[in-house]
Order: sequence, then structure tokens, then C-alpha cells
Amino acid sequence: MNAFSFYNPVKIHFGKGSIEHLRNELPQYGKNILIVYGGGSIKTNGVYGDIQAILSDLNMNVFELAGVEPNPRVETARKGIAICKENNIDIVLAIGGGSVIDCSKLIVAGAKLDADAWDIVTKKVMATEALPLATVLTLAATASEMNSGSVITNLETKEKFGWGSPACFPKFSILDPAYTYSVPANQTVNGVVDTMSHIFEQYFNNATNTPITDEMSEGILRTLIDVAPKALKDPTNYEHRETLMLAGTLGLNGFLALGSRGDWATHNIEHAVSAYYDIAHAGGLAILFPNWMKHNVHINPARFAKVAVNVFGIDAAGKTEEQVALEGIDALSAFWTSIGAPSRLADYEIDSTHFNEMVKHCLVNGPFGNFNKLQAEDVRKILEMSL
Ligand code: NZQ
Ligand code: ZN
Repeated sequence: MNAFSFYNPVKIHFGKGSIEHLRNELPQYGKNILIVYGGGSIKTNGVYGDIQAILSDLNMNVFELAGVEPNPRVETARKGIAICKENNIDIVLAIGGGSVIDCSKLIVAGAKLDADAWDIVTKKVMATEALPLATVLTLAATASEMNSGSVITNLETKEKFGWGSPACFPKFSILDPAYTYSVPANQTVNGVVDTMSHIFEQYFNNATNTPITDEMSEGILRTLIDVAPKALKDPTNYEHRETLMLAGTLGLNGFLALGSRGDWATHNIEHAVSAYYDIAHAGGLAILFPNWMKHNVHINPARFAKVAVNVFGIDAAGKTEEQVALEGIDALSAFWTSIGAPSRLADYEIDSTHFNEMVKHCLVNGPFGNFNKLQAEDVRKILEMSL
């Protein structure tokens, strides 16, 4: 393992009815609250009503920012920052999936600065303090509810970048699996693919002696392969939703990277693709990840063979590590296809028209990826394999 320091101060309230924790958590932060949400799912599934009832009991002054987009836009965060500054907001409550939470992270950071929000995302200005942020998670996928990262899109410049600050860790997050019953099948699949991709990004590292995090990662992957099809068949099954939700949070709250440094190249390439085509983050990952894997098997075939055997049950007898690795990658693609994830850029009608710009977007900070440093020609190759 590499030496490491670990910090994650997010308090999690998990389980049915955990929304009631708002009653004891919120009053300590003040009266003026900004609630941030997306396109309206929380109004049709009852989550908004549950929260309004509690805010009203607490006599809070409620301000609202609705309409946060999937792949949240910097313009929307700017609106939220203005509301915070004009109304002396004490706490921001993000209600939704990763997009709403990520947008809210930029809002709480921007509220404390005089800078433009995009300068925070591009790290021209560092966010060292922020308003308190809390979240009510409604979609299991990103782990944004328990990390300090955020991914924001600027459609004007066709850029989508990740940024983060320890100041943006939520103070607390409420995770009620029943709030995810209404997540449609395609978004449930996206959540599973994103969670699995986070695990792979961290699993493919160059540290030695990582048996604990390897076992945790392989165990979560096997569990998702078992439970995802069941959750898709029976979307209001509490136990299945609870399993997907905990998996999503553990996927990127830092636990799986204790003692190692993840790769994250595939996420970088995906962000470049969705900056141009505004596709679902996990849809892009489902297409790109198997091709990143095939392109990189030679870096450490034993690592790929390990996941093939331990997660996908590939029989290694009489085969080379490379053969086992490739069978594992095929098994991953087959699993994602079986649950309805896309497998080719053509599924989104994406061709090579903008490959040059995407390669440039990926390399904005130079060659990238920690398991294997990718150059422009590697990115182009992976994109071409994904057509
Ligand atoms: O907008 P509403 O109407 O709420 O609908 C949303 C949205 O259309 C819907 N939804 C959410 N909860 C629902 C629901 N529909 C019915 N019932 C519910 N309970 O789902 C759609 C997608 O929501 P979104 O928040 O965009 O999905 P997700 O959680 O997958 O977040 C994706 C974003 O997170 C970023 C991605 O790049 C992307 O922008 N990421 C953030 C990370 C982080 N902060 O650590 C890491 C990730 O790798 C990722 O890059
Ligand atoms: Zn992701």
C-alpha cells in the first residue's frame, strides 16, 4: 500500500424514514435555507412534500432553485450563488442525484467568493470555505453525497470538468432507499454502471499489497452483478434498492482508494464526450470502459485476470493471463448489455466528427491516468474502438 492520510467528515443517515433526521440536523445551521433540485422527479415521487412538511414545522425561510440539469450547467450554479448572496442563506439542501449535489457544491463554494463560478471549476480560484451543505439522495450512483468532488458543464465552451474542495463535503446526507423506488430503469442501469466504473477506476492502480481494498471492491462488484437485474425486475423492492444505494456510496467515498491511487482516465475521456454530446455520464462509461481495459491489459495482465476470475468467474485453467483478462472484459460488456446499457458511441449517434476536440479536452492538463499515462494517440485509439 502507499502511505495515506484519510479525511471524510460526512455524517450519513441511512434507511427508511431517515428524512426525519432533518428535524434535529437543520436547526443548528440557521433559518434561511436554499433547497436545490432537478427537473421535478421529487415533486411526483413525494420527496418534496416530505421535506416541505418538515421545513414548515421548523419554521424555516425556504428559498428554491429548481431545474438543475443532468450534467449540471455552470449558469444554474450562478443562479444559486446569487440567491445565497441576496438572501443571506445559512444552509443549502441538495435534493436529488449527483447532478443536483454537484451543482450545490459549486453554489456553497461560490457563495463565499467574489469570483465567477467557472473560475472555481477551472481552479483559477480555490474554494477554501463554503456555506454548509446537506443532501437528500434520490439516485444511487455518484457518491457525491459522501465526497467533496463535483463535475460541472459549460455548454458555451463545450467543457465539462471535475473540481473539488474539502470545504464542500456535505455536513450530512440522508439516504432513504425508498426514495429511489421511482428511479426509471435506464437511470437505475446508469447508477449501476457508474458505481462499477468508480470501482474499476480505483481497482486499476499501481500499488502493491492491497488485499483489503481488492476484496472490498470485488465483493461490491459481485453483489451488483447479482442484485442489479433483480432491482430492475422489482424496482420497489426495498432490499435491492438498499443494496444499490450503499454500493453507490462506497464506490466513491474514498474507502476503496485507501493505500492506492486510482486511474480515472476513462472518466476524463467520458467527460470530454459528454461535454460535446450531453449524454448520460454512465452511458459514456459503459461504452468507453471495456475499450480502455482492452487498450491497457498489457500494463498488468495479472490484475485484469484477477478481476476476471474473482468477479466474473472466468475459468483460468490452461489459459494465459491475457486470455483470461480478455474473457473477463467480454463478460463485463455482456453484463452491461444484458441490463440495457449502451455499448457503442453509435448508440448515441456519435461519430468521429469531434474526436480532435475531445482529445484536446482530455489533455488539457497533459497526459493523464495513473495506472497508465495516456497520450493523445491512446485517447484517439480508445475513441475509435468505441465507435
Ligand atoms: O431532474 P430530476 O427530475 O430530478 O430527474 C433526475 C435526472 O433526470 C432523475 N432522478 C433522480 N432521482 C430520481 C430521478 N427520477 C425518478 N426518481 C428519482 N428518485 O435522474 C436523472 C439523472 O440524474 P443525475 O443527478 O444527473 O444522475 P447521477 O446521479 O448519475 O449524476 C450524474 C452527474 O454526476 C457527475 C456526472 O458527470 C454527471 O454530471 N459525477 C459526479 C461525481 C462526483 N461528484 O463524485 C462522480 C461521477 O463519476 C460523475 O462524474
Ligand atoms: Zn462516474
